[in-house]
Amino acid sequence: MSPRPVLLLVALLGVSTVLAQTSPPAGSPRLAARPAPPPVAMAKPAQLGLCVACHGENGVARQPGTPHLGGQDEAYLVLSLNAYRDGSRRAAAMNAISNALQPDDIEALARWYASQPGFRPPAER
Ligand code: HEC
Repeated sequence: MSPRPVLLLVALLGVSTVLAQTSPPAGSPRLAARPAPPPVAMAKPAQLGLCVACHGENGVARQPGTPHLGGQDEAYLVLSLNAYRDGSRRAAAMNAISNALQPDDIEALARWYASQPGFRPPAER
């Protein structure tokens, strides 16, 4: 063997040794200990399905007479939902629906809709 192939062989052996050390078999504890990837997007609230028929998933209303919620102030959304829930603000559909929500749901839905891009007039879309 000339010196070049020997060097190549040594290099390949070195690389395969490193690979063997850095890629443990599936299911090994080292694999499980890897940090979870960062969340790509906010998780959808569990009760979002109660709202989409009228307000849309992204808070752009789909029914006449229904307000857009996307990009709305989060604290205002919480206040509104609580007001429908305790009856101090009256609108039949929202009084009924908000009664099915727990405080945690209200927080999650308000955070979700506040984080959406929001309504833009057709000319700007
Ligand atoms: C059947 C249609 C319908 C559904 C379903 C519905 N909404 Fe509404 N929502 C409305 C209407 C109509 C209004 C306007 C009521 C009023 O005049 O106060 C409203 C108002 C609101 C407001 C007040 C907005 C503002 O600008 O003051 C919030 C917040 C809201 N809805 C959140 C929700 C959430 C969260 C859900 C799901 C849990 C939901 N809505 C489900 C029809 C609906």
